[in-house]
Amino acid sequence: MPHLAARRSTAKPARQEAPVAFARPSLGTDEIDEVVATLQSGWLTTGPRVARFEERFRSLVGARHAVAVSSCSAALHLSLLAAGIGPGDEVITTPLTFCATANAIIHAGATPVFADVDRVTMNLDPSAAAAAVSPRTRAVLPVHFGGRPVDVRAFRRLSQRHGLALIEDAAHAVEAVAGGQRIGNTADFTCFSFYATKNLTTGEGGMVTTDSGEAAARIRTAALHGLSRDAWRRYEIGGAAHYDVVMAGFKYNMMDLQAAIGLRQLDRLDEMHDRREAIGRRYDEGLADLPLTLPSLPDLGMVHGRHLYTVLVDEASCGWSRDGLQAALATEGIGTAIHFTALHLHSYYQERFALARGRFPHAEFISDRTLSLPLSASLSDEEVDRVIDTVRRLVRTTRMLKRAG
Ligand SMILES: Cc1ncc(COP(=O)(O)O)c(C=O)c1O
Repeated sequence: MPHLAARRSTAKPARQEAPVAFARPSLGTDEIDEVVATLQSGWLTTGPRVARFEERFRSLVGARHAVAVSSCSAALHLSLLAAGIGPGDEVITTPLTFCATANAIIHAGATPVFADVDRVTMNLDPSAAAAAVSPRTRAVLPVHFGGRPVDVRAFRRLSQRHGLALIEDAAHAVEAVAGGQRIGNTADFTCFSFYATKNLTTGEGGMVTTDSGEAAARIRTAALHGLSRDAWRRYEIGGAAHYDVVMAGFKYNMMDLQAAIGLRQLDRLDEMHDRREAIGRRYDEGLADLPLTLPSLPDLGMVHGRHLYTVLVDEASCGWSRDGLQAALATEGIGTAIHFTALHLHSYYQERFALARGRFPHAEFISDRTLSLPLSASLSDEEVDRVIDTVRRLVRTTRMLKRAG
């Protein structure tokens, strides 16, 4: 690819240009047609399309079982319960994640115990996690941050050494591969998100994959009120006339309307991932010479899910604070997001678990500087170039002003 920076104009773009959304879903006529067909079928909620979506997803990631649910948050909650996690237990996780990860642990009745991340990969550091193990630890819950897989071998060794359940938050990592193994078959439970901004979307939705048939059956039951097997067929002619309630379950099931979108998204998953990779490379090249820290390159044998393109903005070297650059980009019509404000810096976790700034320096370093640029398979090259041009212009202008002043 020719050097992008060289052939870009430095002129200020016309203000009437359409905004570049942070994460616009990539949806086509196939998804629309499948939703219409579902509406016409008369079966809207959990049914044959959910079953097909589960089967295709299971086979894609190479797990024995897949259970579709209403969100990744639900997937995490049910996985923790299926692993037998409850009151008095501790679960080690990363502070550099969305609150749903820690909240699921709390909803299971257990205590999230944070351990610091690696500053380069932004993922939970296996040695920090090992140092956080206590007699109460029952599980470790790493997050594949931004789609970059964690060191799955190290976490497997850690969980085996201490007899812990390994539950992976793969909300960002639907296409990821680590050490030649697809994420989805590297843990006891793997939890995926199909939220509107995710690489594969069903609007809202999630999936648990596991090799345990017993755990999958428990999750399926718990996701639908605790009703006995196949009770979802109870309105079908010939379906189970009676059902038994075997536990106090939840309303966490996925609808066929959601699975309809998911099935057609699965058809395009590789194509959408290729596009995300191409956008990532375009950003890598277009921003390479700026005083920003760009995302780390994947290791050998790793496929990066490319959910996020997260740069670190350091005020001392860049001239902009992260918040200042985010606001300036918003004024230019460019949507960005922050992944994440470290959880131990939020008031709820600070108050409930007696946490304060200073506990996890690497997570704090990232949390203070992180800025995710627009990334979605639906972005055009022109839109990506506009983001690059605008970031370049803003950073250069500030540096010039600093030098002059
Ligand atoms: C790392 C992580 N885990 C879990 C979730 C929760 O996903 P969902 O919205 O599907 O519940 C998210 C959502 O953004 C996330 O980023």
